[in-house]
Amino acid sequence: MLPVRLDRADPQPLGTQLADQMRALVLSGALAGGDRLPASRRLAADLGVSRSVVEQAFDQLLAEGWLEARQGAGTWVADGVAHRARASARRGVPAPERPLVMLDAGTPWIDPRHEGTWRRAWREVSTATPPRGYDDPRGLPALRALVAERLGRTRGLAVDADQVRITGGIGAGLRHVLAILPRAPIALEDPGYRAAVAAVHESGRTVRDLPALEPVDDLAGCAAAYVTPAHQHPLGRVMPAANRLTLLATARRDEALVVEDDYDSEFRYDVAPVPALASLDRDRVAYLGTASKSILPSLRLGWAVVPDDRVRAFDAHRRLTHDAPPWPVQRAMVTLLRDGYVDAVVRSARRVYAERAPRVVAALSPYAELAGPVAGMYSTWLLPHARAVRVRAAAEDAGFRVNLLRDYCRTARLSGLVVGFGGPTDAELDRALDVLVGALDRL
Ligand SMILES: Cc1ncc(COP(=O)(O)O)c(C=O)c1O
Repeated sequence: MLPVRLDRADPQPLGTQLADQMRALVLSGALAGGDRLPASRRLAADLGVSRSVVEQAFDQLLAEGWLEARQGAGTWVADGVAHRARASARRGVPAPERPLVMLDAGTPWIDPRHEGTWRRAWREVSTATPPRGYDDPRGLPALRALVAERLGRTRGLAVDADQVRITGGIGAGLRHVLAILPRAPIALEDPGYRAAVAAVHESGRTVRDLPALEPVDDLAGCAAAYVTPAHQHPLGRVMPAANRLTLLATARRDEALVVEDDYDSEFRYDVAPVPALASLDRDRVAYLGTASKSILPSLRLGWAVVPDDRVRAFDAHRRLTHDAPPWPVQRAMVTLLRDGYVDAVVRSARRVYAERAPRVVAALSPYAELAGPVAGMYSTWLLPHARAVRVRAAAEDAGFRVNLLRDYCRTARLSGLVVGFGGPTDAELDRALDVLVGALDRL
């Protein structure tokens, strides 16, 4: 008897249920190539259904090629497919992977106490009227005004709504900036943000390595320099004032644009956030911000402030490509900013990070040296590469993902671990630190 169970309460017709289950039996290898199936009359009796139900299922699977009818000899599982199905079943659908707890640089902690505002934002989206066509490529005017207000208040960037563009995050903003730059190399910090490196390569340009933390005094031949001045990614240092001025002077002299990636600057807990580099020279710096650290990376929302002489080209590219974030996301963000959600989650995440950072430092500092002051939601530790690899493997075995510093390096030869503390719960963080310390102790 075939191991199938038909359910009369199921809205699927019985014939469809039977066909689905027989197909699954062939795919799993339970029905082998060349197996003969029971006659339709007998199978119908076994299953307590009419013969037409079985015939409907057989017809379906014959049409799909899973079964074949042999003249006067009944119905069989088709040879070739069953073989292949069994082989792939043997090779195995991989066992479902246990999800790793991410201790990466990019997963933020989000205060669940503000979920009411989050839900209100989506309720408002559901009752608002969407635009009829492609919307304004610059972004929703109400959102641009709210972002401009917040940039002035929190990033020292005095801009108005007309100068703000809504993007699908820093990555999308960078791609739009690249689209309007001359086809020349782009200078990137080394070690640096891997997604930016990928975007530059994707644009068909080469990357010039800028040793991170050193003053930038040569950008000759480069279309732009991409930097993370508020919190060098991943070494963690703030770009000193003198280096900011040198970078801007070099960019002016060599006619290169500076692209400022301002990804997590609000999460400082030792001093006030360092004002944006763009506040020093709006004509030379394209500023990119994101909701990924303060709200959610999966929102895919960010903003850009592009120098006035480039903004027409930037808008024209976006109008041409319709590459703007979805209207519902922009509309929800209006509510989140208007009702103080962003300020509230940033404030409470800052408190959580301020409490977690010293725990991480206390646990790991006996074993490794910090690459820079801890800010944001991660810390970077210098260690010989072989040790870092072993510690990372031990963490992975225990269900935690930490990143290798070497993976952010191109010509730089730094090594160690990047340990995030935004994503895990408190209990997970404690366990992760125990695992890391245990692995370091054993080395
Ligand atoms: C250096 C850096 N820039 C930007 C981002 C965020 O980019 P996006 O806005 O595309 O999510 C991250 C996220 O991890 C980051 O580490």
